Amino acid sequence: MSATIERPYLLTSVGKKMVMGITGLIWAGFVFSHMAGNMLILVSPEAYNTYGHMITSGVIVYPAEFILVLSFLLHVGCAVSLVRGNMSARGGQRYAMPTNGEKAVTPASKTMAIHGSLILAFIISHIATFKYGIYYETTAHGVVMRDLHRLVMEVFRQPGFLFWYLLCLILLGFHLSHGVGSIFQSLGIRNDRMAPVINKVSVLYGLIVALGFIVQPLYVFFTLGNR
Ligand code: HEM
Repeated sequence: MSATIERPYLLTSVGKKMVMGITGLIWAGFVFSHMAGNMLILVSPEAYNTYGHMITSGVIVYPAEFILVLSFLLHVGCAVSLVRGNMSARGGQRYAMPTNGEKAVTPASKTMAIHGSLILAFIISHIATFKYGIYYETTAHGVVMRDLHRLVMEVFRQPGFLFWYLLCLILLGFHLSHGVGSIFQSLGIRNDRMAPVINKVSVLYGLIVALGFIVQPLYVFFTLGNR
């Protein structure tokens, strides 16, 4: 008699997809609020720096960073594990996927692992540039704070940075345009009737986040770049 040992739910492929859905939701929410907050660069240096100071100086920043890092590691870890599991289950062969209908493969869904990996490289370089980059100081409304506005201006005046950001932000838009729809699937709240609406919302979300972010380096480069 052979006893079968059941794997804990979170280690099954359904469990891993659920973890990817929840952690993807956390990051999708974060990138939207980050993009919206960064729009203050179009208002004034004081507004941008005060906002940056506000979100980085409160105690909330530590639990928020912890949740972001943990979700990111879980998201990437589950993605790698699912891709490897799928490949080995098919002896190195890819899925046979439909090319039309609601479950059709799209260019975004086929390339999730590729843009996902580039986004990982982007986030590492992004944090090195801005969070741990040059520390300028300024004073706004009588408070001494980090001059992130000056740093952002300096970074995006360089064509190399501009190009790298545009590339990564387009890929982020692609990733979200499929990923947001997958969140509903992974959390079991997608059905055939809702699928067309979810797909459209997902594409719209990716577009808004990517275009919103893209405005900022373009604004810096084209309005101030040659001063
Ligand atoms: C035009 C595009 C962007 C600009 C100008 C920008 C700007 C910044 C700046 C100035 C900071 C430093 C804030 C601090 O001192 O902690 C920052 C932090 C960060 N950014 Fe961005 N960002 C952009 C796009 C993105 C994207 C697309 C992502 C994710 C996919 C991202 C993820 C992060 C993360 C995780 C942090 C660190 C947050 C923390 O630890 O508190 N950013 N960004």
